[in-house]
Amino acid sequence: MPIPLQELAGRVPQRWRRRVPMGLRNRLVDRFGHPPKPFDPLAFPTRVNLGSGWDNRPGYLNVDLHDFHSPDLVGDVRALTALPSGRYEEVIAQDILEHLERDDVPVALKEWRRLLAPGGRLWLRVPDLEALLRWLQQDDTAERHREIMHFLFGTQAYNGDYHHAGFTGLLLSDELHRAGFERVELEIRDDWLWEGEGFARTDGAGPPVAAVWNTGFYRREHGADGSSWRWAAGEAELLLYADAATPYTLELTLETGSVQVTGVGIDRALSPGAHALDLELATGANRLRFVATELQDLPEDARELGFRLG
Ligand SMILES: C[S@@+](CC[C@H](N)C(=O)[O-])C[C@H]1O[C@@H](n2cnc3c(N)ncnc32)[C@H](O)[C@@H]1O
Repeated sequence: MPIPLQELAGRVPQRWRRRVPMGLRNRLVDRFGHPPKPFDPLAFPTRVNLGSGWDNRPGYLNVDLHDFHSPDLVGDVRALTALPSGRYEEVIAQDILEHLERDDVPVALKEWRRLLAPGGRLWLRVPDLEALLRWLQQDDTAERHREIMHFLFGTQAYNGDYHHAGFTGLLLSDELHRAGFERVELEIRDDWLWEGEGFARTDGAGPPVAAVWNTGFYRREHGADGSSWRWAAGEAELLLYADAATPYTLELTLETGSVQVTGVGIDRALSPGAHALDLELATGANRLRFVATELQDLPEDARELGFRLG
């Protein structure tokens, strides 16, 4: 990734810049503007908000391509040359990865991985291509199709506001693994966005396995006491994405309901309580299908609820 001329000039020590004849210096400034003041990453927090847009977050180093968003650092998320390796505990990338060209996706993910300290967390959000295609098939009005095109291709208000890459849960897991992340977990938000996290991989661990809470599973909910749970519809799919064939124990606590689980060589009825499912995962996608044997009816909850996992 070429370093912008001004950023390059900003890195040249002042005493060397002064050696450039005054006339030439003035002409360069007229043409390219003043070199930016040196950026000191140590003066900013150890959390980074990439492609911050109008969502500048306190407590984060906000980075965007465009000055008009007033980020802390104007920069390209594909090459964050001003930021040191391994310094950051968290990188968030909300609605940004799909704005990069397809070939730049692995480049950017590796760059974000470079920033993180061992075990550091990447949290990201991208549109779910499969959900949008499903919506297109389900709806027959031009108005709705136009709206879905907006979700697919971006707002397109300025350079950097176009979508160039599409994702499925499977593809996103694979890209994250390739870039050096592990313990990837993704869930669907608002029926059409993948949202989730991965952690900077530490050496020596086994093949990473991503948990993709697919159609039918709702977002994790959190109680004030620190507990958390996830509701599911009458039918739901969990996709386990493995880089290599591996034994894997899936630990689940079924809190409410009863459910039949099939796939990955198992066919088991689960009743409330703790369960450990011993699975032999194949390389790639392993799909577990959960079918509730009865539906739950919660007052003031419009979702179809089949069962609840702790
Ligand atoms: C859809 S907005 C998301 C803004 C914010 N993260 C949010 O969730 O509200 C995408 C942002 O990514 C920025 N962007 C696009 N390509 C970029 C790049 N290569 N480097 C840095 N920022 C980029 C755009 O300028 C824009 O502000």
